[in-house]
Amino acid sequence: MTENKIIMGDCRKELKKLKKGTVKLFVTSPPYNLRKEYGIYADSVHMEEWKNLIRETLREAHRVLSDDGSFFLNVSPVPDKKTKEIIPLDSIAWQLAKEEGFFLRNKIVWHFNNMQNCTRRLSGRWESILWLVKDLNNYVFNLEYVKIPVITQNDKRFDASSGRNPTDVWYFNRVNNMTKKKLKIEEHPCVYPKEMIERIIKMSSNEGDWVLDPFVGSGTTMVVARNLNRNSIGIEINKDFENIIDKRMNNETL
Ligand SMILES: C[S@@+](CC[C@H](N)C(=O)[O-])C[C@H]1O[C@@H](n2cnc3c(N)ncnc32)[C@H](O)[C@@H]1O
Repeated sequence: MTENKIIMGDCRKELKKLKKGTVKLFVTSPPYNLRKEYGIYADSVHMEEWKNLIRETLREAHRVLSDDGSFFLNVSPVPDKKTKEIIPLDSIAWQLAKEEGFFLRNKIVWHFNNMQNCTRRLSGRWESILWLVKDLNNYVFNLEYVKIPVITQNDKRFDASSGRNPTDVWYFNRVNNMTKKKLKIEEHPCVYPKEMIERIIKMSSNEGDWVLDPFVGSGTTMVVARNLNRNSIGIEINKDFENIIDKRMNNETL
């Protein structure tokens, strides 16, 4: 049996109530400042405000994480609202994470194809996932649970049965409207794919550990964590999403 806690509120306040060193893994995708419909949270704030949100979240997360814990932060390059210049949110977030005492273990490129086409620049087809650790010499890495099939089955140099390292470039389709309709979660504007979160949770935590998502949205991180026998905490500021999270926790298995 696992414990699963949905906390409705601002993660900057709610994280302060959690005990030091109790969570093994944070996985999250914060708002990207893209004017998405999150209700109470205005997803269109000055860059300094966005930086403060990420900085404060990272600071509290660093305290709450165990010494061998990891933080996976999914952010995307986004166009500036006025000039359309591309802002590399991952570079900004990395700087903030460094200042809060984290080390970058990998910058993972999440590649996908199902996205709109641009006419005045190259079409965007990736987002970043920053894998941050508290200690470069002490962190959970269950490589054996996330290996993928070898490329050349007949290559005698490799034992084809053991699989290979999934590398730092990952292909997962984005969750499209059809999938959201099937899961009955159309109300949430951006949901990340369960398969991708499954890889992260298997790789960087063990059964019985606590997994926390401070911007839990529709509850993807909690659903996957629970299905992998991890305890989970999800924090969400928009009360309208509580029902969606509840519904998904009751209905979805891997
Ligand atoms: C990108 S979405 C997360 C989606 C999630 N990964 C999923 O698969 O459903 C970001 C979420 O953060 C929430 N949010 C924004 N500011 C917050 C804050 N200060 N504390 C907690 N949640 C917040 C938004 O309401 C939104 O649901």
